[in-house]
Amino acid sequence: MTSHFVLNTGAKIPSVGLGTWQAPPNVVAEAVLSAVKAGYRHIDCASMYQNEDEIGGSLQKLFDDGVVKREDLFITSKLWCDSTAPEDVPQALDKTLRDLRLDYVDLYLIHWPFRVKKGSSISPENFVNPDIPATWRAMEKLYDSGKARAIGVSNFSSKKLEDLLSVARVPPAVIQVECHPAWQQEKLHALCQSKGVHLTAYSPLGSPGTTWMKSNNILEHPIIASVAEKLGKTPAQVALRWGIQSGHSVLPKSTNEARIKQNLDLFGWSIPDDHFAEFSKIEQVRLLRAEFLVGPQSIYKTIEEFWDGEI
Ligand code: A2P
Repeated sequence: MTSHFVLNTGAKIPSVGLGTWQAPPNVVAEAVLSAVKAGYRHIDCASMYQNEDEIGGSLQKLFDDGVVKREDLFITSKLWCDSTAPEDVPQALDKTLRDLRLDYVDLYLIHWPFRVKKGSSISPENFVNPDIPATWRAMEKLYDSGKARAIGVSNFSSKKLEDLLSVARVPPAVIQVECHPAWQQEKLHALCQSKGVHLTAYSPLGSPGTTWMKSNNILEHPIIASVAEKLGKTPAQVALRWGIQSGHSVLPKSTNEARIKQNLDLFGWSIPDDHFAEFSKIEQVRLLRAEFLVGPQSIYKTIEEFWDGEI
């Protein structure tokens, strides 16, 4: 079993979850089966990943075969940006629940703090101003209904999280953001700690292989490579263990059975304090910069504006 963190709802979130972003539908089903059999108890999904139906098939199989029970799993999904109008929010969750073959999710997140016109793609001319407080009130209703056992946000800056906290009746339980040794999110971490919001890291390995993101090779970074060598672990395990020791949960994505297992083998050892301190020397860079938001026809003129300067 994996260890966990406790949310402000009292629920436990496993420290390690399987990321499913960019996992093609035909391979994600197998990855979910392997992961749960290997001991994963958290699967991170989103309607935008266009693979929830296949993931749902695997969940059904795992329940039918008696591998796990529904209550053993922690399932996250996310509200896509074309469905943030309050009247669209419950329908979006219902569609996700149908695809996943579930009657509730453990966590439902606003996927991004931007909005596109209903049914439209991510393209500069389709962006419209979001009304996050209104979307959040609809999310709170899902929480009241029990269909979402916790609610939260993703890709919010510290400022956007603070703005939300100041109007929320139900405070967000989780903020899911890019976080890894080369983008440590110190400011957001401090805010989360003071407000009791749990941080979950996506791209905890720096998404090696995602060519359209800012180029990176954190698994080859000399500090991570040398700590890994000293501890007899892989660079990926060291990057993930750094995250857990920093107080956040991590969502490594893999569709490879050996790496799925490796990424869960993070317990019973730790990074000693002197090596942990070395991580503060790693130069910082946001990899998923969301440049797709900016353009002459867009309401966003710079990415600095979108990230409230946290770039
Ligand atoms: P694969 O699916 O072939 O294992 P992130 O979680 O930061 O987005 O990174 C995901 C990428 O990292 C995927 O390309 C995945 O490839 C690769 N990956 C996952 N686990 C490991 C690992 N333990 N060592 C090296 N690469 C990994």
